[in-house]
Amino acid sequence: MASLLTRTKSIDRLMQDSDVGGESGLKRTLGSWSLIGLGIGAIIGAGLFVRTAAAIAERAGPSVTLAFIVAGFGCAFAGLCYAEFASMIPIAGSAYTYSYTTMGELVAWIIGWDLVLEYAVGAATVAIAWSQYFNNLLGILHMSPVPYEWSHSPLQSIAGTTTHGIMNIPAVCILFLLSLILVRGTQESAFVNGIIVITKVAIVLVVIGLGWGFINPANHVPFIPEATTYTTPLGVTHAYGGLMGILGAAGVVFFAFIGFDAVSTAAQEAKNPARDMPIGILGSLVICTILYVVFSYVLSGIATVADFRGAGAEASVTFAIQKYMTGYTWLANFVTVAILAGFSSVILVMLLGQSRVFYSMSRDGLVPKVFSDTHPKYRTPWKSNMLFFVFTSLFAGFLPDSIVGEMTSIGTLFAFILVCAGVWILRVKRPDLPRAFRVPAVQLVSIMGIIVCGAMIYGLGWTNWARLGVWLLIGLVFYFTYGQKHSLLNKG
Ligand code: ALA
Repeated sequence: MASLLTRTKSIDRLMQDSDVGGESGLKRTLGSWSLIGLGIGAIIGAGLFVRTAAAIAERAGPSVTLAFIVAGFGCAFAGLCYAEFASMIPIAGSAYTYSYTTMGELVAWIIGWDLVLEYAVGAATVAIAWSQYFNNLLGILHMSPVPYEWSHSPLQSIAGTTTHGIMNIPAVCILFLLSLILVRGTQESAFVNGIIVITKVAIVLVVIGLGWGFINPANHVPFIPEATTYTTPLGVTHAYGGLMGILGAAGVVFFAFIGFDAVSTAAQEAKNPARDMPIGILGSLVICTILYVVFSYVLSGIATVADFRGAGAEASVTFAIQKYMTGYTWLANFVTVAILAGFSSVILVMLLGQSRVFYSMSRDGLVPKVFSDTHPKYRTPWKSNMLFFVFTSLFAGFLPDSIVGEMTSIGTLFAFILVCAGVWILRVKRPDLPRAFRVPAVQLVSIMGIIVCGAMIYGLGWTNWARLGVWLLIGLVFYFTYGQKHSLLNKG
């Protein structure tokens, strides 16, 4: 048992396994700007354009701005740790691979399993958000929207009526389309990704610039609402306002930062990983944090908390523009179209990250070989793409965004904590390894990362702790019945 818990994959063996141009066949084509682009492409999405309003409505009111700062700090600490790992172990697989070399197979398994929450369940969350803006687009085009029943989960209903959701069809459709694109391969899409990234940053800047003049100062008073509680439409009661409100909101909007670590999953394709990975990870993070803080200040100033608890709960940004920014219908229309494209790029990166993590785990024998079978022509793990289409559809089709969004946040926060610990452990265990990028004051950064991410987990409340616990438990059962026995390390 002891060896099972602690057996680690040696870094030399890792490097061998990932030999570029070898079996895995990934090409080194990405420079630092491409990586920053990849990062921003993955980062700006539903977290900003949907979950921000939920955090305002259910957790923190205008102090969501402070929540973004807390979440930004947590990500910066974890981001530094990711950057050191990524510059040292430039291998596909992200936090899973890092932990396999540092904290042993069991912890690596837990992280890999936990990353399913980040990537696959995260993709499902963005697909649900996509569905909200898609219905908005149909309205703009004067077409009838997808009926409530077929664009919401069975757990959602229209307040005061008996109408409830059955299945979120648009969300499932977009997941299907993007999974097909992944099967076909994504090499050609770097140009398209560049355009989408520019568009996304442009929407954020335009909404900030034009929306600033529509801020109603009364909406920002009190900036930090008095500490009380709020019961969500799903019947969950948690803190609203005060410090706990901010921590809870930080946990919710933390979703908006997820994705910068997806850059690390592309390490095998970076031209010069030692230099480009830290720049890619930290660069995209800094740009997004600044944009988020200002954007959330503007959004919480334009519309009220009551708006976001009612009709503005869905497609919140266009709702705020349509209701309060008279004369800016064109902006609402532009934002809707751009957001749909932007969300698609996020879903794509998350699905890609998911298939890469399971690809690595499958090559290590921890999950079945089907996850690393590649397509004879496209060289993509197409069976894995299709299996994850089914998995993500179950979440996107039948659960509301609040549940899947918060599950994504808590799962990722947990992975970040393990990465923060891992970088410190590896400094002690393997001080000899060359590190192109070293975290400054590693003990402090590591501890602060653990504390800030831990505080956000605390803020998310017991329903989310329970969901994380159940998910990890299922993972442990799978590990002890399958992964442990089939692990390549087990076979020597
Ligand atoms: N950060 C990504 C988003 O906000 C996951 O959609």
